[in-house]
Amino acid sequence: MREHLEAVVDALRRLRAEGSTHVFVSDDTLERLRTTFAPRGGAMAIEAETEAEQFVEPASFSPVPASTPARRPTAGSSSTAALRWDGQPIAKLPAPLEIKLPKGSKMEQMNWLRDRVLNCEVCNAHLRPGRKLVFGVGTPEAEIFFCGEGPGADEEQQGEPFVGPAGQLLTKIIQAMGLSRDKVYIGNVMKWRPEMPTEWGNREPTPEEVAFSLPFLRAQLDIVKPKVIVALGNTAVIALLGLDPETKMKDYRGKWHEFNGVPLMFTYHPSYLLRNTALSVKRQVWENMLLVMEKVGLPINEKQRGYFLKG
Ligand code: URA
Repeated sequence: MREHLEAVVDALRRLRAEGSTHVFVSDDTLERLRTTFAPRGGAMAIEAETEAEQFVEPASFSPVPASTPARRPTAGSSSTAALRWDGQPIAKLPAPLEIKLPKGSKMEQMNWLRDRVLNCEVCNAHLRPGRKLVFGVGTPEAEIFFCGEGPGADEEQQGEPFVGPAGQLLTKIIQAMGLSRDKVYIGNVMKWRPEMPTEWGNREPTPEEVAFSLPFLRAQLDIVKPKVIVALGNTAVIALLGLDPETKMKDYRGKWHEFNGVPLMFTYHPSYLLRNTALSVKRQVWENMLLVMEKVGLPINEKQRGYFLKG
């Protein structure tokens, strides 16, 4: 039970570190928390204020002293992050693999790499039984490469990146740009869902997990050679630009950076947009996407320019 509670606390600390000041908790989630943490009808720490909407400040939720650094749980920094689904500690990772792409067309190279990832023993050893590694989708001819953090529960079930609620939002963003999922490339830093003792919830990958997974992502980028990379969220930009995890992300967001000579735009992860529904945040992301569209020479009409501006 304690691990479950710590998983919630870790998730809330992570949200706070990302800049969230409020969290939406649905009635359904409240009910689940109620049954999880107060199975015998004990005192409830969490009470709904209204029927449909409930906002809770992460800081007020956390029993962790305010002076404790709020960023990046790593394996070993909390009991939840250090355990797998069966309560066993997460196995240590070997040194990252060296990947030398074979000669051939982009499609041949991508198929070779997919095969390599899906058969990677280390990656498979970190999968929850019955779940899938998540390689990437889209066209290797893509001009825009969207890069996220790693699979969540929906993605590891389906073996495809960005298919859960955040993914559906990303798909809408791509469509608003006049594109579709098969005209871009969508990948992640991680190819497996970082292990958790719970079915639900996600945690950030550890630096070791990122280091092990990065050569696969680099190889995907090497094959696609996109005109622009869109880094979705902190994990992606930290991994790709090799930033210190303590970097102030707001100084980086919405600006052009470079990965191996390829322009890289850093924007909010779509899961942040699901939590923070402010029009101004949607507009920020959309302005970042307008910059991306301009950079790759996509047509932009007046209607598109005006998305998420107050009427
Ligand atoms: N979040 C990510 O970063 N990647 C996914 O594939 C899904 C959710």
